[in-house]
Amino acid sequence: MDRILIRGGKPLSGRLPISGAKNAALTLMPCALLTDEPVTLRNLPRLADVDSFGHLLNQLGASTQIEGSRPEDFGRVMTIRAGKVTATLAPYDIVRKMRASILVLGPLLARAGEATVSLPGGCAIGNRPIDLHLKALEALGAELETASGYVTARVPDGGLPGGTFSFPIVSVGATENAIMAAVLANGTCILENAAREPEIVDLCNLLVDMGANIEGMGTDKLVIHGKQRLHGATYSVMPDRIEAGSYACAAAITGGELELAGASANDMHAIIAALRETGVHVEETRSGIKVAADGKLKPLTLSTAPFPAFPTDMQAQFMAMLCLADGASVLTETIFENRYMHVPELARMGADIRVDGRTAIVRGVEKLTGAEVMATDLRASMSLILAGLAAEGETKVNRVYHLDRGYERLEEKLSAVGADIERDSDG
Ligand code: EPZ
Repeated sequence: MDRILIRGGKPLSGRLPISGAKNAALTLMPCALLTDEPVTLRNLPRLADVDSFGHLLNQLGASTQIEGSRPEDFGRVMTIRAGKVTATLAPYDIVRKMRASILVLGPLLARAGEATVSLPGGCAIGNRPIDLHLKALEALGAELETASGYVTARVPDGGLPGGTFSFPIVSVGATENAIMAAVLANGTCILENAAREPEIVDLCNLLVDMGANIEGMGTDKLVIHGKQRLHGATYSVMPDRIEAGSYACAAAITGGELELAGASANDMHAIIAALRETGVHVEETRSGIKVAADGKLKPLTLSTAPFPAFPTDMQAQFMAMLCLADGASVLTETIFENRYMHVPELARMGADIRVDGRTAIVRGVEKLTGAEVMATDLRASMSLILAGLAAEGETKVNRVYHLDRGYERLEEKLSAVGADIERDSDG
């Protein structure tokens, strides 16, 4: 398996391109199932999860054609054609590797009138059920049946009648599945306490380009008037706010200065406010965001919460950065029950972190020292890369397949701005 070697201590400096958003791409791709016309996605990030989703779409009868892009280009153009849907099953071996596969549930139900997906099972950061996905679809009129680890959803004769569902807790994926089922319903669907993440707005923008009728985009109440059919569209994936936030932390932890080209500050207010509170300078430029740090960081008290609050997907990266702050920080993870897997690995590099339930106390230390560490999930892996960039000596991060799921050509992007980083295979 591949691993990444970093020799730390070098301030980063230069221009770093931000790719299309993984968590937008994974909800935009299944939209192609909603029409028999081609859907072309531009600025699609070159990621393992995007490739996996493409293979799933192929299994459902859709073709996925990557248009020519030079190896040095970031992002790709993919045209997806679901002229006919030949299967409506998302099998266990795919769903267990990539939870986002359940996002075919809503579109398959809408297009083919039925869908069967494996219950996802747990993952490193929590048990992550899909009960809200199922309750939402049921409220919109779907008939559900669960057996042998799979759930089958069917629309009644005459199609999905529509209805109202108020989410008891905010769920990004359940909101996405409900929206994609609602756009072809026979009636009107009202979603209350819907997730408002920018990736949901990206989803709604594509669906409206395809002819959907959605009111309330960007708010927690969506009113969707179902249409008979949707047409194809060409759409560009939004920039990845979590990738941008992660590299902003790289500038902060190394006391460097980066221009994050293509980043959208508008999606990152809570991340930017938190960076500024640590003393990092953040400035919006014409082409993205400039982040500059002088190596001294102030401690923070921070809680994760649904958008527009501070995102859970940035908690591990901020924790790495705050390991070197001048004082004690208090981080509280309110979204997932087990998202501190990076803590014992950071501790092996000299970090002083105490976890008590959902709260972590991070006491700043003078320095981190390089070590061999193991990645456990996508964002935990990034926190180890960040720590390695600042640590004295060499850090080896194993199991980097986690990283490849969510960061396009990470070592190329970091090398280009001065990091001493390389990938090697440990056989
Ligand atoms: C999406 O996951 C993202 N993934 C996650 O990013 C992100 O951390 C998460 O939203 C929160 O922002 C993609 O978009 C592909 P949720 P999702 O449903 O949709 C509970 C990354 O690193 N819940 O908003 O699965 C759930 O257990 C990944 O890029 C239920 O109880 O997250 C969690 O505690 C990690 N029942 C909370 O809600 C359900 O039916 C929020 O989960 C669904 C969720």
